[in-house]
Amino acid sequence: MSQPPDNKTDIRNDERATLGTTMAGAGIRHSVETLIGRAAVERGLASRNQVLLAFELIKQYPKEERPARFVEVFVSRGVLTAEQIEMLRGWVTDDGDPSAKSGSSMAAPKVSSAEMIPGYRIERKLGAGAMGTVVLARQLSLDRLVAIKLLPKKFATDAQYIDRFYKEGKSAARLNDPNIVAAYDVGRAPAGEYFFVMEYVDGETVFDRIQAKRRIGETEALHIARQAASALRHAHEKGFIHRDVKPKNLMITKGGVVKLADLGLARAGNDSDAATEEKGKIFGTPYYISPEQIRAREVTPASDIYGLGATLYHMVTGRVPFEGNSPKEVMQRHLRQPLKPPDQLVPDLSNGLSMIIEMMMAKDPRERYHSAADLIEDLDRVAAREAPVHARPKLDAPMPGATDGADGEAPVAMAELPRAGSPWATPVGIAVLAVLGLSVAANALMALLLVLRKG
Ligand SMILES: Nc1ncnc2c1ncn2[C@@H]1O[C@H](COP(=O)(O)OP(=O)(O)OP(=O)(O)O)[C@@H](O)[C@H]1O
Ligand SMILES: [Mg+2]
Repeated sequence: MSQPPDNKTDIRNDERATLGTTMAGAGIRHSVETLIGRAAVERGLASRNQVLLAFELIKQYPKEERPARFVEVFVSRGVLTAEQIEMLRGWVTDDGDPSAKSGSSMAAPKVSSAEMIPGYRIERKLGAGAMGTVVLARQLSLDRLVAIKLLPKKFATDAQYIDRFYKEGKSAARLNDPNIVAAYDVGRAPAGEYFFVMEYVDGETVFDRIQAKRRIGETEALHIARQAASALRHAHEKGFIHRDVKPKNLMITKGGVVKLADLGLARAGNDSDAATEEKGKIFGTPYYISPEQIRAREVTPASDIYGLGATLYHMVTGRVPFEGNSPKEVMQRHLRQPLKPPDQLVPDLSNGLSMIIEMMMAKDPRERYHSAADLIEDLDRVAAREAPVHARPKLDAPMPGATDGADGEAPVAMAELPRAGSPWATPVGIAVLAVLGLSVAANALMALLLVLRKG
């Protein structure tokens, strides 16, 4: 693997080396199985020792048998369930090192059987994520290529979700912006799966680009962020909040146009659940989620600005802003840990860009950009080598009450905190003031009487 994908950056280099050596010894280095083993540790599904032990056991089989023994050993030793292995396999074969695909004895996941959508001809699978599989299809009536997201069947039974799925899809279809992946259609396939038809983007995701280049240079990153911010400005003005801005949801066409994907695709569950593991299924690790989403607080346009800030951070430093051994640890760091300024990691970065990112990622949403329009103004200024006008340095103080962890009590609202006011605003203070007031009045009266008597 030349460069780990974003969800895989947690593992420390020495651990990676040990895992790599042991797996190499097991004769399955550079295979899908190797990546599954690593991903299991990095996602917190299995401990490093469990994985190492399982690979040691695999080593005891003849070389040619080893890949085939992988599932058997991992499941029988209780390291992973068969379902987790399949989820990880789907994930690593979609997003991992391409060499993994050829190195494996096992087939890449197939497109599910819901390919039969009247009016569309499915061409091939484009990818898969937490919310289903994305396929390339031809819309027969208009003879154009489209991308279709097929949702897992489990969603079909959730009436509330389906209601939102149709409503959000319908309103998203009214959005029209060159930087937003257009939503075309929503519906239900005869096989029962719900589907979301959208503009096909012939290109790559920002995630792919980070993978390929390790990190993206400042000028290019500013150009990408500027277009993404423009998509957000349009969406926010129309009352949409994306809630899941991240490198995999930003696509770049071959001509260099950035397009924000998945806008209008209703998300199941709350944001922190959707961003973490649930019932053994693997969802994206929460590298880009805002503190208020973790706390299930009100989600506002500022939440998208945080997601874009975390994405920009990853682009220019090649690292996600907060790493951890589990989704919970990552989320706690979003809440508590001060952000390491990006120009400390990459000294070449301009101070202006670093300030912009820090402001986008302020833990308190009120400290972030007030709008995507303000953000665009700063991005343009820094691109023109001028100082930003909205960003101010050092805004990354923890949110009030943020010391109580991701699943702790909601922090005390600022309004409920006792105010550090004037010392006079106490009963004793009021009494002293009253005495002083009376004494001043009495003195004034005496003076008046003396003047009158003299007169
Ligand atoms: N409109 C599109 N055009 C072309 N390819 C797309 C399109 N939408 C998605 N893809 C591809 O399909 C992959 C899976 O997309 P999907 O939205 O299901 O998951 P994701 O965004 O990668 O991750 P997550 O499920 O965590 O949100 C993407 O990474 C991308 O490569
Ligand atoms: Mg997506």
